[in-house]
Amino acid sequence: MIEAFPTLFSTIKLADHTLANRIAMAPLTRQMAEPDGTPTEEMAAYYARRARGGCGLIITEGTYEEDAFGCRAYLSQPGIANAKHVAGWRKVTDAVHKHGSAIILQLMHGGRVTDPRCLKPGEQPVSASATQSQGWTLYSDDGYEKEIRQIEGPWPKVTFGPARALTVAEIGDVVRGFADGARRAVEAGFDGVEIHGANGYLIYQFIHPTTNQRNDAFGGSAQNNARLAVMTCEAVRAAIGPSKIVTLRLSQDGVDDFTGAWPGGVAYAHEIGKALRGCGADALHWASFNYAENRDPSSSTPMPKALRAASGLPMIANGGIDDGAKAEAALTSGAADLVAVGRPTFAQPDWPYIVRSGAPYEWAAFDRKYVIRPPVDYGLAYPTRLLDPQWPAEW
Ligand SMILES: Cc1cc2nc3c(=O)[nH]c(=O)nc-3n(C[C@H](O)[C@H](O)[C@H](O)COP(=O)(O)O)c2cc1C
Repeated sequence: MIEAFPTLFSTIKLADHTLANRIAMAPLTRQMAEPDGTPTEEMAAYYARRARGGCGLIITEGTYEEDAFGCRAYLSQPGIANAKHVAGWRKVTDAVHKHGSAIILQLMHGGRVTDPRCLKPGEQPVSASATQSQGWTLYSDDGYEKEIRQIEGPWPKVTFGPARALTVAEIGDVVRGFADGARRAVEAGFDGVEIHGANGYLIYQFIHPTTNQRNDAFGGSAQNNARLAVMTCEAVRAAIGPSKIVTLRLSQDGVDDFTGAWPGGVAYAHEIGKALRGCGADALHWASFNYAENRDPSSSTPMPKALRAASGLPMIANGGIDDGAKAEAALTSGAADLVAVGRPTFAQPDWPYIVRSGAPYEWAAFDRKYVIRPPVDYGLAYPTRLLDPQWPAEW
Protein backbone atom coordinates (compact mmCIF):
# COMPACT_ATOMS: atom_id res chain seq x y z
CA MET A 1 0.00 0.00 0.00
CA ILE A 2 1.53 3.31 -1.02
CA GLU A 3 0.42 6.52 0.61
CA ALA A 4 -0.38 8.40 -2.53
CA PHE A 5 -2.99 11.15 -2.49
CA PRO A 6 -2.79 12.16 1.18
CA THR A 7 -5.66 14.64 1.03
CA LEU A 8 -8.01 12.23 -0.74
CA PHE A 9 -7.34 9.60 1.89
CA SER A 10 -7.66 11.88 4.89
CA THR A 11 -10.76 11.89 7.06
CA ILE A 12 -13.36 14.64 7.01
CA LYS A 13 -16.24 15.40 9.34
CA LEU A 14 -19.74 16.17 8.06
CA ALA A 15 -22.25 16.85 10.85
CA ASP A 16 -21.46 14.16 13.49
CA HIS A 17 -19.98 11.73 10.98
CA THR A 18 -16.27 11.32 10.41
CA LEU A 19 -15.82 9.90 6.92
CA ALA A 20 -12.89 7.53 6.36
CA ASN A 21 -11.80 9.38 3.23
CA ARG A 22 -12.99 12.08 0.85
CA ILE A 23 -14.44 9.82 -1.80
CA ALA A 24 -18.21 9.80 -2.23
CA MET A 25 -20.00 7.48 -4.58
CA ALA A 26 -22.05 9.84 -6.74
CA PRO A 27 -25.79 9.25 -7.01
CA LEU A 28 -26.58 6.92 -9.92
CA THR A 29 -30.13 6.07 -10.92
CA ARG A 30 -30.47 2.38 -11.72
CA GLN A 31 -34.26 1.89 -11.80
CA MET A 32 -33.95 -1.44 -10.07
CA ALA A 33 -36.55 -1.02 -7.30
CA GLU A 34 -39.84 -2.93 -7.22
CA PRO A 35 -42.58 -1.29 -9.31
CA ASP A 36 -44.04 0.14 -6.06
CA GLY A 37 -40.70 1.81 -5.22
CA THR A 38 -39.52 -0.70 -2.61
CA PRO A 39 -35.73 -1.18 -2.61
CA THR A 40 -34.62 -4.75 -3.33
CA GLU A 41 -32.03 -7.17 -1.93
CA GLU A 42 -30.14 -6.61 -5.17
CA MET A 43 -29.85 -2.92 -4.33
CA ALA A 44 -28.47 -3.78 -0.89
CA ALA A 45 -25.81 -5.94 -2.55
CA TYR A 46 -25.02 -3.24 -5.12
CA TYR A 47 -24.49 -0.50 -2.54
CA ALA A 48 -22.68 -2.76 -0.06
CA ARG A 49 -20.26 -3.71 -2.83
CA ARG A 50 -19.29 -0.03 -3.29
CA ALA A 51 -18.95 0.40 0.46
CA ARG A 52 -16.62 -2.60 0.57
CA GLY A 53 -14.66 -0.96 -2.23
CA GLY A 54 -13.79 1.86 0.15
CA CYS A 55 -16.06 4.85 -0.55
CA GLY A 56 -16.14 6.98 2.59
CA LEU A 57 -19.63 8.19 1.69
CA ILE A 58 -22.32 6.69 -0.48
CA ILE A 59 -24.99 8.92 -1.96
CA THR A 60 -27.92 6.90 -3.24
CA GLU A 61 -29.76 7.30 -6.48
CA GLY A 62 -32.50 9.94 -6.63
CA THR A 63 -35.46 8.73 -4.54
CA TYR A 64 -39.00 10.11 -4.44
CA GLU A 65 -40.06 11.32 -1.03
CA GLU A 66 -43.84 11.29 -1.34
CA ASP A 67 -46.71 10.10 -3.49
CA ALA A 68 -47.86 13.60 -4.34
CA PHE A 69 -47.29 16.45 -6.78
CA GLY A 70 -45.81 14.15 -9.41
CA CYS A 71 -42.76 13.66 -7.24
CA ARG A 72 -41.85 10.24 -8.68
CA ALA A 73 -39.94 10.74 -11.92
CA TYR A 74 -39.04 7.26 -13.15
CA LEU A 75 -40.54 3.81 -13.45
CA SER A 76 -38.83 1.45 -10.97
CA GLN A 77 -37.39 4.44 -9.11
CA PRO A 78 -37.06 3.76 -5.38
CA GLY A 79 -39.18 5.75 -2.94
CA ILE A 80 -39.04 6.72 0.72
CA ALA A 81 -42.73 7.52 0.83
CA ASN A 82 -44.04 4.81 3.17
CA ALA A 83 -43.18 2.14 5.77
CA LYS A 84 -42.55 -0.53 3.11
CA HIS A 85 -39.94 1.68 1.49
CA VAL A 86 -38.36 2.32 4.90
CA ALA A 87 -38.07 -1.43 5.55
CA GLY A 88 -36.50 -1.99 2.13
CA TRP A 89 -33.94 0.79 2.60
CA ARG A 90 -33.10 -0.54 6.08
CA LYS A 91 -31.57 -3.61 4.39
CA VAL A 92 -29.42 -1.30 2.25
CA THR A 93 -28.20 0.88 5.12
CA ASP A 94 -27.42 -2.15 7.33
CA ALA A 95 -25.43 -3.79 4.52
CA VAL A 96 -23.47 -0.59 3.83
CA HIS A 97 -22.75 0.17 7.48
CA LYS A 98 -21.14 -3.26 7.91
CA HIS A 99 -18.32 -1.94 5.70
CA GLY A 100 -17.86 1.29 7.65
CA SER A 101 -19.14 3.74 5.01
CA ALA A 102 -21.67 6.43 5.69
CA ILE A 103 -24.71 6.50 3.41
CA ILE A 104 -27.11 9.33 2.65
CA LEU A 105 -30.32 9.18 0.63
CA GLN A 106 -30.80 11.52 -2.30
CA LEU A 107 -34.28 13.04 -2.09
CA MET A 108 -35.61 14.06 -5.46
CA HIS A 109 -38.70 15.68 -6.91
CA GLY A 110 -38.88 15.36 -10.70
CA GLY A 111 -40.99 18.46 -11.32
CA ARG A 112 -41.55 18.88 -15.05
CA VAL A 113 -39.05 16.11 -15.84
CA THR A 114 -41.36 13.30 -14.76
CA ASP A 115 -42.16 10.25 -16.83
CA PRO A 116 -45.88 10.69 -17.65
CA ARG A 117 -46.39 7.01 -16.84
CA CYS A 118 -45.66 7.90 -13.18
CA LEU A 119 -48.46 10.46 -13.02
CA LYS A 120 -52.05 9.74 -12.00
CA PRO A 121 -54.62 9.90 -14.82
CA GLY A 122 -55.12 13.56 -15.78
CA GLU A 123 -52.39 14.77 -13.39
CA GLN A 124 -50.08 17.48 -14.74
CA PRO A 125 -46.42 17.69 -13.82
CA VAL A 126 -45.50 20.70 -11.67
CA SER A 127 -42.67 23.21 -11.93
CA ALA A 128 -41.63 26.74 -11.04
CA SER A 129 -43.55 28.05 -14.05
CA ALA A 130 -45.82 26.70 -16.75
CA THR A 131 -43.19 25.31 -19.12
CA GLN A 132 -42.57 22.06 -20.95
CA SER A 133 -39.32 20.15 -21.08
CA GLN A 134 -38.23 19.32 -24.60
CA GLY A 135 -36.34 16.23 -23.45
CA TRP A 136 -37.47 12.65 -23.16
CA THR A 137 -37.04 9.93 -20.59
CA LEU A 138 -34.32 8.03 -22.43
CA TYR A 139 -31.08 9.68 -23.28
CA SER A 140 -30.72 9.22 -26.99
CA ASP A 141 -32.27 7.46 -29.92
CA ASP A 142 -29.12 6.58 -31.79
CA GLY A 143 -28.50 3.18 -33.32
CA TYR A 144 -26.29 1.96 -30.47
CA GLU A 145 -28.87 2.84 -27.80
CA LYS A 146 -31.50 0.93 -29.77
CA GLU A 147 -29.19 -2.04 -30.14
CA ILE A 148 -28.36 -2.33 -26.44
CA ARG A 149 -32.01 -1.91 -25.52
CA GLN A 150 -32.90 -4.48 -28.18
CA ILE A 151 -35.37 -2.11 -29.78
CA GLU A 152 -36.32 -2.70 -33.37
CA GLY A 153 -38.28 -0.28 -35.50
CA PRO A 154 -39.38 3.17 -34.36
CA TRP A 155 -38.01 4.51 -31.08
CA PRO A 156 -40.66 4.48 -28.32
CA LYS A 157 -39.93 8.03 -27.27
CA VAL A 158 -41.60 9.12 -24.01
CA THR A 159 -41.76 12.90 -23.82
CA PHE A 160 -42.65 15.12 -20.87
CA GLY A 161 -46.04 16.80 -20.53
CA PRO A 162 -46.66 20.52 -20.11
CA ALA A 163 -46.08 21.52 -16.48
CA ARG A 164 -48.16 23.90 -14.38
CA ALA A 165 -46.69 26.39 -11.92
CA LEU A 166 -46.85 25.45 -8.24
CA THR A 167 -48.82 27.87 -6.05
CA VAL A 168 -47.06 29.35 -3.02
CA ALA A 169 -49.15 27.12 -0.71
CA GLU A 170 -48.16 24.05 -2.73
CA ILE A 171 -44.48 25.03 -2.52
CA GLY A 172 -44.90 24.79 1.26
CA ASP A 173 -46.36 21.30 0.82
CA VAL A 174 -43.45 20.24 -1.39
CA VAL A 175 -40.99 21.47 1.25
CA ARG A 176 -42.86 19.48 3.92
CA GLY A 177 -42.68 16.46 1.59
CA PHE A 178 -38.86 16.69 1.55
CA ALA A 179 -38.78 17.04 5.35
CA ASP A 180 -41.07 14.02 5.83
CA GLY A 181 -38.94 11.99 3.41
CA ALA A 182 -35.81 12.97 5.33
CA ARG A 183 -37.41 11.84 8.60
CA ARG A 184 -38.27 8.47 7.05
CA ALA A 185 -34.72 8.21 5.66
CA VAL A 186 -33.31 8.52 9.17
CA GLU A 187 -35.82 5.91 10.33
CA ALA A 188 -34.42 3.63 7.60
CA GLY A 189 -30.91 4.01 9.04
CA PHE A 190 -29.48 6.68 6.73
CA ASP A 191 -26.78 8.99 8.07
CA GLY A 192 -28.49 11.91 6.40
CA VAL A 193 -29.87 13.04 3.07
CA GLU A 194 -28.91 14.86 -0.06
CA ILE A 195 -31.45 17.31 -1.46
CA HIS A 196 -31.45 17.06 -5.25
CA GLY A 197 -31.29 20.57 -6.64
CA ALA A 198 -29.48 19.52 -9.82
CA ASN A 199 -29.88 17.85 -13.20
CA GLY A 200 -33.11 19.42 -14.39
CA TYR A 201 -35.44 18.37 -11.57
CA LEU A 202 -37.82 20.54 -9.53
CA ILE A 203 -35.40 22.52 -7.33
CA TYR A 204 -33.12 23.05 -10.34
CA GLN A 205 -36.17 24.33 -12.26
CA PHE A 206 -36.54 27.03 -9.59
CA ILE A 207 -32.82 27.87 -9.53
CA HIS A 208 -32.36 28.03 -13.30
CA PRO A 209 -33.51 31.38 -14.74
CA THR A 210 -34.64 29.71 -17.97
CA THR A 211 -37.27 27.54 -16.27
CA ASN A 212 -38.16 29.97 -13.48
CA GLN A 213 -40.27 32.78 -14.90
CA ARG A 214 -41.98 33.70 -11.63
CA ASN A 215 -42.15 37.23 -10.31
CA ASP A 216 -43.14 36.46 -6.72
CA ALA A 217 -40.85 35.61 -3.76
CA PHE A 218 -39.73 32.46 -5.62
CA GLY A 219 -38.46 34.05 -8.82
CA GLY A 220 -36.97 37.10 -10.48
CA SER A 221 -33.56 37.17 -8.73
CA ALA A 222 -30.88 34.69 -7.72
CA GLN A 223 -31.95 35.03 -4.11
CA ASN A 224 -35.60 34.32 -4.96
CA ASN A 225 -34.68 31.48 -7.34
CA ALA A 226 -32.70 29.85 -4.51
CA ARG A 227 -35.53 30.28 -1.98
CA LEU A 228 -37.06 26.81 -2.49
CA ALA A 229 -33.59 25.24 -2.03
CA VAL A 230 -33.00 27.27 1.15
CA MET A 231 -36.44 26.48 2.59
CA THR A 232 -35.95 22.79 1.83
CA CYS A 233 -32.53 22.70 3.51
CA GLU A 234 -33.91 24.48 6.56
CA ALA A 235 -36.96 22.22 6.83
CA VAL A 236 -34.91 19.05 6.35
CA ARG A 237 -32.37 20.18 8.95
CA ALA A 238 -35.18 20.94 11.42
CA ALA A 239 -36.70 17.50 10.72
CA ILE A 240 -33.57 15.40 11.26
CA GLY A 241 -31.51 17.50 13.65
CA PRO A 242 -27.91 18.68 13.69
CA SER A 243 -26.18 15.29 13.94
CA LYS A 244 -27.27 14.03 10.49
CA ILE A 245 -25.66 14.96 7.19
CA VAL A 246 -27.53 17.29 4.83
CA THR A 247 -26.08 18.11 1.40
CA LEU A 248 -27.55 20.05 -1.50
CA ARG A 249 -26.70 19.08 -5.09
CA LEU A 250 -26.54 21.75 -7.79
CA SER A 251 -25.71 21.77 -11.51
CA GLN A 252 -26.02 23.61 -14.76
CA ASP A 253 -26.79 20.43 -16.73
CA GLY A 254 -30.21 18.89 -16.82
CA VAL A 255 -31.03 15.35 -17.92
CA ASP A 256 -33.08 17.10 -20.59
CA ASP A 257 -30.27 19.55 -21.46
CA PHE A 258 -26.67 18.37 -21.18
CA THR A 259 -25.25 21.69 -22.32
CA GLY A 260 -27.28 23.88 -19.95
CA ALA A 261 -25.52 26.96 -18.65
CA TRP A 262 -26.66 29.39 -15.97
CA PRO A 263 -27.30 32.74 -17.63
CA GLY A 264 -24.86 35.01 -15.83
CA GLY A 265 -22.34 32.19 -15.43
CA VAL A 266 -19.91 32.46 -12.52
CA ALA A 267 -21.45 35.74 -11.33
CA TYR A 268 -24.80 33.95 -11.01
CA ALA A 269 -23.11 31.10 -9.13
CA HIS A 270 -21.71 33.70 -6.77
CA GLU A 271 -25.22 35.05 -6.10
CA ILE A 272 -26.64 31.56 -5.60
CA GLY A 273 -23.77 30.71 -3.24
CA LYS A 274 -24.47 33.85 -1.21
CA ALA A 275 -28.17 32.98 -1.01
CA LEU A 276 -27.26 29.53 0.35
CA ARG A 277 -25.05 30.84 3.15
CA GLY A 278 -26.35 29.49 6.47
CA CYS A 279 -29.05 27.36 4.78
CA GLY A 280 -28.38 24.43 7.09
CA ALA A 281 -26.60 22.18 4.60
CA ASP A 282 -23.29 20.63 5.69
CA ALA A 283 -22.00 20.77 2.13
CA LEU A 284 -22.94 21.67 -1.41
CA HIS A 285 -22.41 19.10 -4.16
CA TRP A 286 -21.60 20.22 -7.71
CA ALA A 287 -22.77 17.80 -10.42
CA SER A 288 -21.25 17.93 -13.88
CA PHE A 289 -19.29 15.87 -16.36
CA ASN A 290 -16.20 18.06 -15.83
CA TYR A 291 -15.96 19.74 -12.45
CA ALA A 292 -13.25 22.16 -13.63
CA GLU A 293 -15.36 23.89 -16.27
CA ASN A 294 -17.97 26.61 -15.91
CA ARG A 295 -19.34 27.30 -19.41
CA ASP A 296 -18.73 30.99 -18.79
CA PRO A 297 -16.39 32.53 -21.39
CA SER A 298 -15.73 35.51 -19.09
CA SER A 299 -14.22 33.50 -16.21
CA SER A 300 -11.81 30.63 -15.68
CA THR A 301 -13.01 29.80 -12.16
CA PRO A 302 -14.44 26.29 -11.89
CA MET A 303 -18.09 26.47 -10.84
CA PRO A 304 -17.67 24.46 -7.61
CA LYS A 305 -14.83 26.77 -6.56
CA ALA A 306 -17.01 29.85 -7.09
CA LEU A 307 -19.93 28.33 -5.18
CA ARG A 308 -17.69 27.12 -2.36
CA ALA A 309 -16.17 30.57 -1.89
CA ALA A 310 -19.49 32.41 -2.07
CA SER A 311 -21.44 30.07 0.19
CA GLY A 312 -18.72 29.44 2.78
CA LEU A 313 -19.85 25.80 2.70
CA PRO A 314 -17.73 22.69 2.09
CA MET A 315 -18.00 21.43 -1.48
CA ILE A 316 -18.30 17.97 -2.97
CA ALA A 317 -17.08 18.27 -6.56
CA ASN A 318 -18.19 15.79 -9.19
CA GLY A 319 -17.55 15.24 -12.86
CA GLY A 320 -14.82 13.53 -14.81
CA ILE A 321 -12.73 12.61 -11.76
CA ASP A 322 -11.54 9.15 -12.75
CA ASP A 323 -8.09 8.83 -11.21
CA GLY A 324 -6.33 9.66 -7.98
CA ALA A 325 -4.33 12.58 -9.36
CA LYS A 326 -7.47 14.35 -10.60
CA ALA A 327 -9.20 13.74 -7.28
CA GLU A 328 -6.25 15.06 -5.27
CA ALA A 329 -6.00 18.12 -7.53
CA ALA A 330 -9.70 18.92 -7.05
CA LEU A 331 -9.15 18.86 -3.28
CA THR A 332 -5.95 20.90 -3.20
CA SER A 333 -7.07 23.55 -5.73
CA GLY A 334 -9.75 25.10 -3.54
CA ALA A 335 -12.54 23.60 -5.64
CA ALA A 336 -13.56 20.85 -3.26
CA ASP A 337 -13.44 19.24 0.17
CA LEU A 338 -14.68 15.88 -1.12
CA VAL A 339 -15.00 14.36 -4.58
CA ALA A 340 -17.97 12.39 -5.84
CA VAL A 341 -17.16 9.71 -8.35
CA GLY A 342 -19.96 8.36 -10.52
CA ARG A 343 -19.24 6.22 -13.57
CA PRO A 344 -15.89 4.90 -12.27
CA THR A 345 -17.40 3.59 -9.00
CA PHE A 346 -20.38 2.29 -10.88
CA ALA A 347 -18.14 0.43 -13.26
CA GLN A 348 -15.45 -0.46 -10.77
CA PRO A 349 -16.65 -0.92 -7.20
CA ASP A 350 -13.07 -1.12 -5.90
CA TRP A 351 -12.12 2.29 -7.33
CA PRO A 352 -11.05 3.79 -3.97
CA TYR A 353 -8.99 0.75 -3.08
CA ILE A 354 -7.26 0.63 -6.45
CA VAL A 355 -6.49 4.35 -6.39
CA ARG A 356 -5.05 4.09 -2.91
CA SER A 357 -2.98 1.02 -3.68
CA GLY A 358 -1.38 2.77 -6.63
CA ALA A 359 -1.79 -0.44 -8.60
CA PRO A 360 -1.49 -0.02 -12.35
CA TYR A 361 -4.94 -0.13 -13.72
CA GLU A 362 -6.32 0.17 -17.18
CA TRP A 363 -9.57 2.07 -17.02
CA ALA A 364 -12.22 0.81 -19.34
CA ALA A 365 -14.27 3.41 -21.16
CA PHE A 366 -17.75 3.91 -19.85
CA ASP A 367 -20.33 2.14 -21.94
CA ARG A 368 -24.07 2.82 -21.84
CA LYS A 369 -24.77 -0.87 -22.10
CA TYR A 370 -23.74 -1.27 -18.47
CA VAL A 371 -26.48 1.16 -17.48
CA ILE A 372 -29.13 -0.52 -19.55
CA ARG A 373 -28.21 -4.12 -18.84
CA PRO A 374 -26.34 -4.34 -15.57
CA PRO A 375 -24.66 -7.62 -14.79
CA VAL A 376 -26.56 -9.87 -12.47
CA ASP A 377 -24.28 -9.52 -9.45
CA TYR A 378 -23.76 -5.74 -9.83
CA GLY A 379 -20.29 -6.40 -8.55
CA LEU A 380 -18.16 -5.79 -11.55
CA ALA A 381 -19.60 -4.14 -14.59
CA TYR A 382 -16.48 -4.40 -16.71
CA PRO A 383 -14.18 -7.16 -17.73
CA THR A 384 -11.13 -6.01 -15.78
CA ARG A 385 -7.94 -7.19 -14.25
CA LEU A 386 -9.39 -6.64 -10.80
CA LEU A 387 -7.09 -7.12 -7.88
CA ASP A 388 -8.61 -9.10 -5.09
CA PRO A 389 -8.15 -6.51 -2.39
CA GLN A 390 -6.72 -7.50 0.92
CA TRP A 391 -8.41 -4.93 3.08
CA PRO A 392 -6.25 -3.08 5.51
CA ALA A 393 -7.54 -3.39 9.07
CA GLU A 394 -7.56 0.40 9.35
CA TRP A 395 -8.82 2.12 6.25
C1 LIG B 1 -26.56 6.07 -15.17
C2 LIG B 1 -26.49 7.37 -14.45
C3 LIG B 1 -27.46 7.66 -13.49
C4 LIG B 1 -27.41 8.86 -12.77
N1 LIG B 1 -28.33 9.11 -11.78
C5 LIG B 1 -28.24 10.23 -11.02
C6 LIG B 1 -29.12 10.44 -9.90
O1 LIG B 1 -29.97 9.63 -9.56
N2 LIG B 1 -28.96 11.60 -9.21
C7 LIG B 1 -28.02 12.53 -9.53
O2 LIG B 1 -27.93 13.57 -8.87
N3 LIG B 1 -27.16 12.32 -10.56
C8 LIG B 1 -27.23 11.19 -11.28
N4 LIG B 1 -26.32 10.97 -12.29
C9 LIG B 1 -25.20 11.90 -12.49
C10 LIG B 1 -23.96 11.41 -11.74
O3 LIG B 1 -24.15 11.49 -10.34
C11 LIG B 1 -22.71 12.23 -12.10
O4 LIG B 1 -23.02 13.59 -11.93
C12 LIG B 1 -22.23 11.98 -13.51
O5 LIG B 1 -22.13 10.59 -13.78
C13 LIG B 1 -20.86 12.65 -13.74
O6 LIG B 1 -19.92 12.19 -12.82
P1 LIG B 1 -18.76 11.10 -13.22
O7 LIG B 1 -17.94 11.77 -14.30
O8 LIG B 1 -18.02 10.85 -11.96
O9 LIG B 1 -19.49 9.90 -13.73
C14 LIG B 1 -26.38 9.79 -13.04
C15 LIG B 1 -25.42 9.50 -14.02
C16 LIG B 1 -25.45 8.30 -14.71
C17 LIG B 1 -24.37 7.98 -15.72
